[in-house]
Amino acid sequence: MEKFIIKGGSTLRGEVNISAAKNAVLPIIAATILCGDKCIIKNCPMLLDVYVITDVLKSLGAKININKINREIAIDTSGIIDSEVSSDLVRKMRGSFLIMGPMISRFGKFKTSFPGGCNIGTRPIDLHLKGFKALGAEVKLNHGYVEVSTTKLIGSKIYLDFPSVGATENIMMSAVLAEGETIIENAAEEPEIGDLAEFLNQMGAKITGIGTDTLKIVGVKNLNGISYEPIYDRIEAGTFMIAAGITKSKIKINGINKEHIRPVVAKLTEMGIGFEFKGQELLIDGRNDLKPIDIKTMPYPGFPTDMQSQMMSLLSCVCGTSVITETIFENRFMHVIELKRMGANIKIDGRSAVIEGINKLNGAEVKATDLRAGAALILAALEADGETEIYDIHHIDRGYVEIENKLQDIGVKIQRVKC
Ligand code: EPZ
Repeated sequence: MEKFIIKGGSTLRGEVNISAAKNAVLPIIAATILCGDKCIIKNCPMLLDVYVITDVLKSLGAKININKINREIAIDTSGIIDSEVSSDLVRKMRGSFLIMGPMISRFGKFKTSFPGGCNIGTRPIDLHLKGFKALGAEVKLNHGYVEVSTTKLIGSKIYLDFPSVGATENIMMSAVLAEGETIIENAAEEPEIGDLAEFLNQMGAKITGIGTDTLKIVGVKNLNGISYEPIYDRIEAGTFMIAAGITKSKIKINGINKEHIRPVVAKLTEMGIGFEFKGQELLIDGRNDLKPIDIKTMPYPGFPTDMQSQMMSLLSCVCGTSVITETIFENRFMHVIELKRMGANIKIDGRSAVIEGINKLNGAEVKATDLRAGAALILAALEADGETEIYDIHHIDRGYVEIENKLQDIGVKIQRVKC
């Protein structure tokens, strides 16, 4: 086991480079199953979740070559056969359920255990299954396994009751080789969906409506392997933006897509943080006194739920009353108890948290309960008086590439130690 020890109070300086997006890379790696060919993912973030999904593909017969130096992953899925994946692998990470769509597309059937993942909510898969059924597949659920089978996938119109990111991705990957045309209505519009669609189109798929809530997929006969570089991680970028705000610093962030991070920039601007964009670079100025605000998480282009906990750390240190309402996941306030150990004044009322900002948090021993909660505790530790020890940091390693090195490079006193 390992922990982070962070000494609060540093002013940040210099610049940080954002990695490619975890939530774009995971579905893209799953999609390589569709072509039965060689693909190269460039500038790939070397994250625990990436290793889990490549292990899943390896267990199915894919050849994987991970080059950590030049951050490239070569994937040859020609050798994949329709077999079962060990349930402990699939249960390790919810994102591994994204192989269901590609596997039924290529082999007409696949069986896997119910997906696991973060403990931020029940994380149902009913919309994924609704899509598979609409395309003509039979779905069986028993003994904790999901079995999907079909003789042929046939294009159809599917309305998503909720714009689910994973369901949109799984259905899109099921439709690209189906016979005829598929329309996904009320589709998720997160940038990572667009990046997957772009990857599929470069492999030879026919997807239109990218960036809207209605995706049209015309089935094709086959897809070819390509090289591809995913989009930057808008959540990592937002996390470092809040690092600048919470430490009253001015830093440069390289690897920004202004459109993808617009909702976060809008709210941080309301608080008084300064932004100067130059292409994919951002000069962010967090030195002003900041104002309290209200936040409501929504599907894209609303404020992202993956930035909710990080924003709560910032608002905990901004004098005045702020309210955060979490509408996406029903159990995504687990960071509140840990922030309160650091002196934060937060009251949970149903899906909302009322935050009375205080002048200074105090360093404490805290635990990362999930990926973004862990990021929030790092941010709180940057501002806190004294030392903070963060345990269970494997959660953080799932979604942030070498975060302690990136923070050290901009002046943070942080170390990773065995415990
Ligand atoms: C993706 O999860 C992301 N993960 C999550 O990021 C992110 O928080 C989430 O989208 C929302 O943006 C990856 O991309 C690997 P959803 P996903 O399906 O696909 C309901 C992180 O920190 N729902 O959009 O699981 C359900 O209520 C992670 O990087 C159904 O009702 O998200 C759920 O709460 C955490 N039925 C809500 O949608 C379904 O079949 C959002 O889920 C599916 C979802």
